[in-house]
Amino acid sequence: MNEGYAVQMVNITKSFPGVIANRNIDLDIKKGEIHGILGENGAGKTTLMNILSGFYKPDEGEIYVEGRLVKMHSPKDALKLGIGMVYQHFTLVPEFKVVENIVLGTDVVGRKLSLKAAANLIEEQAKQLGFTVDPWSKVADLSLGERQRVEILKVLLRGAKVIILDEPTSVLAPVEIAGLFNVLKQLASQGKSIIFITHKLNEALEICDRITVLRTGMKIGTLSRSEITSTLDIIRMMFGVEAEPALAAEVPKELGKEVLRVENLVVESDRGVDAVKGVSFSIREGEIFGLAGIDGNGQKELAEALARIRNIKSGKIYFKGEDATNLSPADLHLKGGTYITDDRVSEGLIQDFTLTENIVLKDFRKNGVKRGLLIDWKKVAENGLMLIREYELAAAKPNSLTQTLSGGTQQKLLVAREISGESSLIIANQPTHGVDAKTTAYIREKLIEKASKGAAVLLISNDLDEIFSCSNTIAVIYEGRILGILDRQSATREKVAYLMIGVKKD
Ligand SMILES: Nc1ncnc2c1ncn2[C@@H]1O[C@H](COP(=O)(O)OP(=O)(O)OP(=O)(O)O)[C@@H](O)[C@H]1O
Ligand SMILES: [Mg+2]
Repeated sequence: MNEGYAVQMVNITKSFPGVIANRNIDLDIKKGEIHGILGENGAGKTTLMNILSGFYKPDEGEIYVEGRLVKMHSPKDALKLGIGMVYQHFTLVPEFKVVENIVLGTDVVGRKLSLKAAANLIEEQAKQLGFTVDPWSKVADLSLGERQRVEILKVLLRGAKVIILDEPTSVLAPVEIAGLFNVLKQLASQGKSIIFITHKLNEALEICDRITVLRTGMKIGTLSRSEITSTLDIIRMMFGVEAEPALAAEVPKELGKEVLRVENLVVESDRGVDAVKGVSFSIREGEIFGLAGIDGNGQKELAEALARIRNIKSGKIYFKGEDATNLSPADLHLKGGTYITDDRVSEGLIQDFTLTENIVLKDFRKNGVKRGLLIDWKKVAENGLMLIREYELAAAKPNSLTQTLSGGTQQKLLVAREISGESSLIIANQPTHGVDAKTTAYIREKLIEKASKGAAVLLISNDLDEIFSCSNTIAVIYEGRILGILDRQSATREKVAYLMIGVKKD
C-alpha cells in the first residue's frame, strides 16, 4: 500500500438485510485533494463513508491510512486516525457556545485547554481558512452555514486530516455554498483531504480534483478533472448507458379528459423555504405522468400539497375541473383522489392496527361500509379479505397486526388500500421504494391497470427504469421546478438524466 495516499479502501463490501449497499469497492484518496463522490439515491455513498468514518464495520475489505492497515470500531477510532465526518444533521448543541461545543466531551488536539485558550485556537484556525467566527456566540444564533463551519472546525481541531462531508450544500443558500467551497479549497491547499458527497454534478465539477461515481452499490469509476472531457461522461456513469426499458404494453396510448391541473404551485418545506417553486402541469385520464428527479428536489412537498396534507402557499389545483386548492384530504379522497405516501411506516399505516382496520381507515366515510352512522364491520372484514386475496398479501390475515408484516407486504397493503376503490386520481410517491422485485412488478402493474381504466396517475420516482417502463408522459423536477415535460417517445434516458441534475439540453 502506498503511504502517499491519505486513505485507501480496498474491496469494501457491506450488506443490509435485502440489499448490498457496497460491493467490492476500491477507493483511494490522495493527500491534499478534494474528492467528489457522486451517484443516484441509494448508490451507497453514505454507507461507504460511514465505513470510512468508523460508524459501520464492513463485511469485507480493508482500510489503509497512509499505507498502514487499520481497524476501526467507532467514529472515535477513525478520528484518532485523522478521519472525521461532518454530519449533515448537525451534532452541535444549540444552547451552548461555539467554543463549548468544540471542546465538549474531548480534548482539543489531545490537550486539555481552558475555554479561553480553545477560543483563541478556534479564531486562529478560522482565520487560516479565511473566515471569522465568534467562539463566544451561541450556536442557536448562527446561520446554517456558520454552524457547518463550526462543525468543520470541530473535526479539524480534533486532528482530522481527512474530512468527509455528506451533501454539505443541501442545507445551504448559494452565498453560503461559495463560502464553504473557499474553506474546502483552503483545507486542501494545507494538505488535508476532502471527501465531498454530492448529487450536484456542477458542484463536483467546480471544486473536485477527482470524482468517483457509485451506482447500485458498485464503483463505476474514478476520473480526474483532466480526464473529464464532457459532463456526459459523468452522467453516463451515474445513470447508466443502457437503453431505457420499453414502455409496458398495457400503458394506455389514448388519453381522455383532464383530471388534474396544477397552476403555478408554490409549496414550502418544513424548514419554511419554498420547496416547490411555481410548478404547472396537467394529467389526463389514462395518463401516467412520471415525475423523475433526485430525492429532495420538492417531490415530497408537491405530493403532499396535492394530497392536501400540506399547505399551499400560492397557486391553484383543479380536480376534474373544480377548484380543489382548499379541499380537505378527506374530501379529496371522497371525490376519488388517492395518495400513496413514500413513508409507509410513520404516515401511511397505523402500525398497531390490524390489516382490516388499516384498510378501512380511509374508506369509512364511503358508502358500502357505512350503515347510518355506524361502520359495517362485517362488510369491512369482507373487503379486507377480498383485498388480501386480490393483492396476494402474503401470509397476512385480516387480524394480523400491521407491524408484524415485512416492509414489502406493508407497502402492498398501502397500495392495495389506496387504489382498491374507484380512484380517478392516484398520487404515488416512490411507490416501490424498498420493496422486492416481485412486489415492485406487482405495484407497477396495478398502477398501469388503474390508468387503463381511466385514472390519472402521478408517479413520482427516482428510479428511471420505473419512470420509463410505466409512464406515457415524463417530467423532471429539479430544485422545485419542472425543467421539462416530454412525451414518452421523445424522452431518452440521457435527456432525463441531464434534466435531473439541472442541465437542459436539446
Ligand atoms: N442502516 C441501514 N439499514 C438498512 N439498509 C440501509 C441502511 N443504510 C443504507 N441502507 C441501504 O443501502 C443502500 C445504500 O444506501 P446509502 O444511504 O449508502 O445510499 P446513498 O448513495 O447515500 O443515497 P442518498 O443519495 O439517497 O443519500 C440503500 O438501498 C439503502 O436503503
Ligand atoms: Mg446518502
